[in-house]
Amino acid sequence: MERIDAIHGLILRQSGAIPYYHRRWILTDTGVARSSMTAINTIAAWPEVATHYKRLAAARLTDLFASNPERVNELSREGAGLFLDLSKNRIDTAALDALCGCAEQTGLGAARDAMFSGQPINQTEGRAVLHIALRAAAERHIEVDGRNVMPDVYAERQKMAGLVDDLRDGRWLGYGGERITDVVNIGIGGSDLGPRMVTAALQPYHGDALRVHFVANLDGADLAPLLQTLEPSRTVFIVASKSFTTMETLTNAATARRWVVDAAGNEEAVARHFIALSANPAATTEFGIDEANRLTFWDWVGGRFSLWSVIGMPIALAVGNANFYELLAGARDMDSHFETTPWRDNVPVLMALLGVWYRNQFQRPTHAVLPYDERLGLLPSYLQQAEMESNGKRVKQDGSRVELDTAPVLWGGVGTNAQHAFFQMLHQGTHWVPADFIAAVRPHHDLAEHHAGLLANCLAQTAALMQGDPEADDPHKVFEGNRPSTTMLVDELTPRALGALVAAYEHKIFCQGHFWGINAFDQFGVQLGKTLAKSVGPALAAGEGASQDPSTAALIARIAARR
Ligand code: F6P
Repeated sequence: MERIDAIHGLILRQSGAIPYYHRRWILTDTGVARSSMTAINTIAAWPEVATHYKRLAAARLTDLFASNPERVNELSREGAGLFLDLSKNRIDTAALDALCGCAEQTGLGAARDAMFSGQPINQTEGRAVLHIALRAAAERHIEVDGRNVMPDVYAERQKMAGLVDDLRDGRWLGYGGERITDVVNIGIGGSDLGPRMVTAALQPYHGDALRVHFVANLDGADLAPLLQTLEPSRTVFIVASKSFTTMETLTNAATARRWVVDAAGNEEAVARHFIALSANPAATTEFGIDEANRLTFWDWVGGRFSLWSVIGMPIALAVGNANFYELLAGARDMDSHFETTPWRDNVPVLMALLGVWYRNQFQRPTHAVLPYDERLGLLPSYLQQAEMESNGKRVKQDGSRVELDTAPVLWGGVGTNAQHAFFQMLHQGTHWVPADFIAAVRPHHDLAEHHAGLLANCLAQTAALMQGDPEADDPHKVFEGNRPSTTMLVDELTPRALGALVAAYEHKIFCQGHFWGINAFDQFGVQLGKTLAKSVGPALAAGEGASQDPSTAALIARIAARR
């Protein structure tokens, strides 16, 4: 089977009838390597960026501020309510302009438009990438394979909203005729991290209609203690899995199903206590999920970009449909900013270019995300999947090895707690780390002095990282300073502001994947371990590891001898 790459006119051939994760779109002999057209290091303006790097590599941030009184204004940006102070970064306007020139030359605009218009930009899997359609206005027309997806998006959201209202308003009754008090989302990766992070972040918007819980880990220590706190007749489980083949999720779901059926004394209870969110409806039927409780999404929604789809149902259950729509509206605001704003003012594009600057000029291997907001405590974990599963790749779209390093290790933690943990390393370690500091100007609580202290700490840390104390007498007390950061502010962490913040990171990821010439939307790197688990599992059960490598065999023997 052959297809034409809609962006670049390349001819792609699919390799055989084998499982989807082994299928490849391969450039034919007549194809032109896509990467040679777009990877940022291959375009004419890239050497100019390197020249700026040489000029700025040893420059001190404090000197850059001293020599340019306009620096703060020149390096501040705002989009969709998200304010970015870029001025504490080791860059200046000329270097940023050169990077924007590169972005233009890579064809970023055409690539973005290809994504927004439903082209199959996930070339290795032959799929469109349309999380933007999940929050787009109903009037927008976005076609996949000749069909406008928007009516399906709205119909499915409508169905979800009905179930959400039934559960929140107490119309949904369990097998004993009682109202539901608890909902447990069973999912992992993209079917867990996004809804879990957003549900936590929007805690002030939770009513008392329902308690929403999350279970992801295969480790029974996740599900078992939770079940002890729940009443089966008042609990609904959401089984969230795009593929509906994920081992962790199916194992947890099967245990939950047994727990409900045992308590109810009949299989019919499954229909009243299970909801499925999946792009594989056939498998959900097999599990016994009632048709009315099956919500679907599509292969053009990547798991790690799926919180805007029905995968966001736990969010809507916690905060209500109206607040969920506000979340979508915030993401739509950012989509529109990304679509219409010139590169030099475009928030996600600048986030991406700055990341490329640190990764590929300063050779920084890690990037820290530091929310000064208790409610954003799960943001670093969420972004780890979003960024590292997307851009942790070592080959370009055409299969050739990248010349530039790709995704840095993303890590982080919440302030002020992290100040008493790893900030020592940020301030005085041998290894400096570019960082995003994220805060809300106004809190959702009335402990004003706490919030004032929180913001003061956030600003003080970025100032301390930048200024340092290079002249201290005692070498142990020297802070070299010149350590960069971006400060990101929202006025309040409303659903709308959160939607815009998350969408900004999503578009940053898209841009970086494009700049590195890689496919940000597949994840073949997770498959090998899953495949090996299939042979290790029986070997472990049998206590016989002869078919495994010597280390694994010895570990199997030790476990068998001691269990
Ligand atoms: O193993 C990685 C992964 O495929 C992620 O990309 C995905 O978000 C997660 O597993 C869960 O997959 P599913 O939603 O199909 O259960």
